[in-house]
Amino acid sequence: MTDPLVGRHVTLGVTGSIACYKAVDLASKLVQAGAMVDVIMTDGAQEFLWPITFSSITHRPVVTNLFDPQSELSMDHVALAKRSDVVLVAPATADAIAKAAWGMAGDALSATLLATEAPVIFAPAMDANMYDNPATQENVSKLRSRGAVIAGPAEGRLASGLVGRGRMLEPSALVDHVRIVLGRDGDLSGKKIVVSAGGTQEPIDPVRMITNRSSGKMGFAIAEAARDRGANAVIVSAPTALPDPTGITVVHVETALEMRDAVTAQCEDADALIMAAAVADWRSAEVASQKLKKGSAETMTIEMVKNPDIVAGIGGGRMVKVGFAAESEDVVENAQSKLLSKGLDIIAANDITSADSGFATDTNRVVLLDRDGGVTELGLLSKYEVGHRILDKVVQML
Ligand SMILES: Cc1cc2nc3c(=O)[nH]c(=O)nc-3n(C[C@H](O)[C@H](O)[C@H](O)COP(=O)(O)O)c2cc1C
Repeated sequence: MTDPLVGRHVTLGVTGSIACYKAVDLASKLVQAGAMVDVIMTDGAQEFLWPITFSSITHRPVVTNLFDPQSELSMDHVALAKRSDVVLVAPATADAIAKAAWGMAGDALSATLLATEAPVIFAPAMDANMYDNPATQENVSKLRSRGAVIAGPAEGRLASGLVGRGRMLEPSALVDHVRIVLGRDGDLSGKKIVVSAGGTQEPIDPVRMITNRSSGKMGFAIAEAARDRGANAVIVSAPTALPDPTGITVVHVETALEMRDAVTAQCEDADALIMAAAVADWRSAEVASQKLKKGSAETMTIEMVKNPDIVAGIGGGRMVKVGFAAESEDVVENAQSKLLSKGLDIIAANDITSADSGFATDTNRVVLLDRDGGVTELGLLSKYEVGHRILDKVVQML
């Protein structure tokens, strides 16, 4: 298993909203993720953009007219409906949503939506009053009740000058919605996967803390991979600079003790726990209620107490437990002893001293060790790919 977009047919319906400039980036992101993208532009969309804008990105013909003799649809008007693994309408105007809700088939996009058996996602984009209008709301509910996914819209500043609900979701979020739909029957469907991420922050006083260099990228990437295989993915996250990913519940915590409590609660009904967080081994014995003064002393000592070992204190039973070992020397040996001492099923060991792996990078070099003595060297991969390889092992053990 890997990115569910690889090799899949996505039909992208682009309609006449000013937000269609974002559909160009969206098409590009879908293509870069490995999808084959067929674009259908409505007449409205063609008032804003040219077909060549999309065909130069997708390297495939763009459908602009159901009756165009050059178009595949003039010979088989439901060709795209049949070929699609998913149809995404982004931006979706009030007009396009209304046509779909009422089963119209007067143009290439409406006809494709009516004929397809593939899942359909609408990304509404319109003025807030148009979206809030009971007519649009009724149409949206109708489409949702028939199984369509309505992705967004977000609140924000609209082209009309209003601030309200009607902004199309950003292209990266829409790509994630497509992944979720394509992956929903994957091998982790119905499973709850809890992933911890980021570096905990242990306070000393109201302004100072002890933390570490973990960016949270590895944990977030594992949770995204789990989501894309159909899992109910939950991240228990120490503070990071990363936005909450689409379709994943994120529980925000700061300290190791908060992380332990949140992970323990989430694991009550979890199938697997993957501890990718860098949890502080120690915390300050006392947290000052006021900012500590520099004073005249040349040294200062902070007494530290040990934090609990989260993974060792959780679960057992049927839950698969995966740990990480960020090591700077004797990587495999140190990971092996951690695997045993913490009662893990799998440990992912990474060498944090190389530039392309470990903290803050988008790639990682990981060796997977499992409880049965298996050792798999993964080589240099994106963190998302590393997430999939870890999940391959989790699936085997579940
Ligand atoms: C400058 C401009 C911007 C528009 N933006 C939107 C929009 O964001 N959402 C929407 O529903 N309609 C918008 N419209 C109106 C649609 O273009 C119009 O309803 C059109 O008939 C939609 O056709 P289509 O859905 O077939 O593309 C806009 C019109 C203009 C002139």
